[in-house]
Amino acid sequence: MNILAIETSCDETAVSIISSKNDDLDVRANVVSSQVELHAKWGGVVPNLAAREHTKNILPVLTEALDTAGITHKDIDLLAVTQGPGLIPALLIGTNAAKALAYAWEKPLLGLHHIEGHIYANWISPKSKVKSQKLSFPILALVVSGGHTQLVLMSEHCHYEIIGQTQDDAVGEAFDKAARLLGLPYPGGPQISEKARIFVQTHEDVTQNGADKDIKKHSTEMGKDNKNTDSPKKLSPNTYDLKLPRPMLHSGNYHFSFSGIKTAVLYTVREYQKNNGLTKDDRLPEDFVNAVAHEFQSAVTEVLITKTLKAAQEYGAQTILLAGGVSANTQLREELAAAIAEKISHITFSVPPLEYCLDNAAMIAAAASFRWNKMSDEQREDYNNGWKTVLADSNLKMTSL
Ligand code: KG4
Ligand code: ZN
Repeated sequence: MNILAIETSCDETAVSIISSKNDDLDVRANVVSSQVELHAKWGGVVPNLAAREHTKNILPVLTEALDTAGITHKDIDLLAVTQGPGLIPALLIGTNAAKALAYAWEKPLLGLHHIEGHIYANWISPKSKVKSQKLSFPILALVVSGGHTQLVLMSEHCHYEIIGQTQDDAVGEAFDKAARLLGLPYPGGPQISEKARIFVQTHEDVTQNGADKDIKKHSTEMGKDNKNTDSPKKLSPNTYDLKLPRPMLHSGNYHFSFSGIKTAVLYTVREYQKNNGLTKDDRLPEDFVNAVAHEFQSAVTEVLITKTLKAAQEYGAQTILLAGGVSANTQLREELAAAIAEKISHITFSVPPLEYCLDNAAMIAAAASFRWNKMSDEQREDYNNGWKTVLADSNLKMTSL
């Protein structure tokens, strides 16, 4: 069947068309129009500006997706849209567009949870090739995005039990805030990642001139082309002697907290400024920024990995999967893969292809496909009314089927 999906929950206007046959997904078109540059000027996403851009972009993006897939609306069997959570002015553009199409084209319409989409990005194969990604249940999903940090247990498709989550900031949010404190632009995640990579490279060079040639050892299947592959502990000591906290590392549950690390970054920066006679407005030296970025990323990664491995063992997971925008982070992808291979090698590890880590509509179509396949004919009937029943919901909870 052909599924057309729309995603507008934040600052990406995205439309995708996939053909699905049972669990095999063929991405025919995946168009994403990003507003990152527009929002960067404001240091974060401005909801009303996002809505204005979505309004401008939604029809051109839709047309491009249909053209790329080489099909017309007559070939579409099912429509899907991100119903929530997200910014309500942004969600409304996508849901209203989808509802209008469902009404005009007389197609069923499914409203999807954004995080369910991120999870199902793991069933999309790289470079848009058809591949049946066979992941065994129970699956433990580590969800790390700008708005969510959760450990989600799946006993079967479309069945979710949240076993732990952040008590304050989401990981992506912490990356963005830490970046701002270091004077780096929005979105902060990729910035921190790049600065940490430079830090590692610099220190790697130092050690490789010496005896330790063993540093680049975590070369995993998903990270061959990435360079930031080593454990921070194997680097030569950094001159700033930084140590950020690892909050809730041994809390005895699967919850997280990231606002404390962010505050520790603030104090680290302040102390550095004080000791070096800098004011708030002075630029921080690059090597200091790189060192803090690396220590921040290492602290976050250590907490996420430790808890995920523990939960996977306790709940008897067969698969661990990574989902959400922060799953694009090289250190997290590679160190999690390495830790699983080293400590629980019977568990399969999956990450989405890089092109599907950040917000896109292919992941929404993928989730819709799995939901649809699981439904009875009777359940499917209800979605013929999707054009009037789907309502944008900024706080939507993920529901099992
Ligand atoms: O999933 P996503 O695209 O949007 C939400 O659903 O929130 O995630 C966006 C978040 C942002 O906070 C961004 O800084 C972070 O993902 N992010 C990264 C990386 N790329 C994006 N964080 C760390 N490392 C990255 N490479
Ligand atoms: Zn997202």
